[in-house]
Amino acid sequence: MILRLISTTLFFMSFGLYAQSDSLELNVFGEDFLWGVACASYQVEGAWDADGKGPSVWDDFTHQKGKIKDGSNGDVAVDFYNNYKDDIALSKSMNLDVFRFSLSWSRIFPSGVDSVNQKGIEFYHNVIDECHAQGIEPWVTLYHWDLPLALEEQGGWTDRMILDAFIDYVTFCAKEYGSKVKNWMIMNEPAAFVGLGYMMGYHAPGKKGVTKFLKATHHACLAMAEGGRIIRAEVENANVGSTFSCSSIEPYKGKTKNNKAVAKFDAMLNRLYIEPALGLGYPYDAFPAFKRIEKYFEKGDEERLKFDFDFIGIQNYFRMVVKRSWFPPLIWAKEVPALKRYVPVNEMNFEIYPEGIYKMLKKFGAYGGVKRIIVTENGVCVTDSLENGQVHDEERIQFFKDYLGQVLKAKNEGIPVDGYFVWSLTDNFEWSEGYEPRFGLIYVDYPTQKRYMKDSGKWFKSQLEN
Ligand code: NOJ
Repeated sequence: MILRLISTTLFFMSFGLYAQSDSLELNVFGEDFLWGVACASYQVEGAWDADGKGPSVWDDFTHQKGKIKDGSNGDVAVDFYNNYKDDIALSKSMNLDVFRFSLSWSRIFPSGVDSVNQKGIEFYHNVIDECHAQGIEPWVTLYHWDLPLALEEQGGWTDRMILDAFIDYVTFCAKEYGSKVKNWMIMNEPAAFVGLGYMMGYHAPGKKGVTKFLKATHHACLAMAEGGRIIRAEVENANVGSTFSCSSIEPYKGKTKNNKAVAKFDAMLNRLYIEPALGLGYPYDAFPAFKRIEKYFEKGDEERLKFDFDFIGIQNYFRMVVKRSWFPPLIWAKEVPALKRYVPVNEMNFEIYPEGIYKMLKKFGAYGGVKRIIVTENGVCVTDSLENGQVHDEERIQFFKDYLGQVLKAKNEGIPVDGYFVWSLTDNFEWSEGYEPRFGLIYVDYPTQKRYMKDSGKWFKSQLEN
């Protein structure tokens, strides 16, 4: 608690440190820069079993005791299923260009494969049509972590059968929606759903272990590339990408003895999922133990892993400071948490570190195969309070100024970054953390489901006015 207080105080004090961004005006990014908001099916839709939807791993996980901090689940979430028209209108009212959302696989294929659910298919037609009717571009993520439970029961991402199931699902979506949707993201943050879901057990499906992690990694990388090929083949004029979480990783106290720890974390969190697509293979150089992944290779996999995406999405939330350690095995390194370093943090104890996004844009922009970058997510959870219908979230506005100042710096140095999507449109279900962390530009009063635009939302609205 005391550490938390110190960090929060530091967060407020840090305003002074980044004063250069105070005068930031969004028009300096230029006419063609894309501004958007992002959300994900399980985090917002609710209607978890409505109109023929099948259960996903997240329905199952949240219904188990003790998995979610506040004991909540996404059964209702922010009821986007019934509120989508208003929520799209809110996005448009902030003068944004893009509405990024994901498709729930088990709403379309209740058991993951074979028979489809007409009502689920229709729902996404309605969402897409509404975007067009309101003049905001739909950007669709095909997989934001809510795997159909029936597929998990056959091993989920650890079993190679997942590849064929994913191929069928993507092919179906491309044919169904491809005439209306041109901008696609195959996967959202594979490092997160594989690492947290199949190694740490902290996210659905709650599995643990190195073997599961390696198998799931390989299958996710193959599926990502296959998905890219399908969209390109099926959708005329497609703009196809995938999104990657990334964090600036630095040695504790700047000491060189921690450099190996940095290289390993970097390999695991930043390089593992993008480098195979770029034709660079898995990053064995920094993390030789990854070689074990080859046990799960089949003939032709090296080629199958490659795909030249039109853009990549980067999603940056925190910096990591790491040091060498006698535990855990294989990585022999551990993180020094932000709270122990007395640095500014958000409500989830993620370090607030604006230069991190600049460093990540430079890092990803330096890969030969990366043609275009969009920041497909960035945002912050702070303690919001609703008073007389107003939310004065000055810290969040400052966060955007600071981070966007760093995005601008990278752009001005020639990094091909041409879009920024805020996480998130509304407050929503923050996975294992439940509803306490609020990331939205729009405040949701959960008992009434009423929406209130926060000052940060109003800031974007006025900044993006023509
Ligand atoms: C990244 C994930 O894509 C999103 O689902 C999550 O809510 C945000 N990070 C914030 O933690």
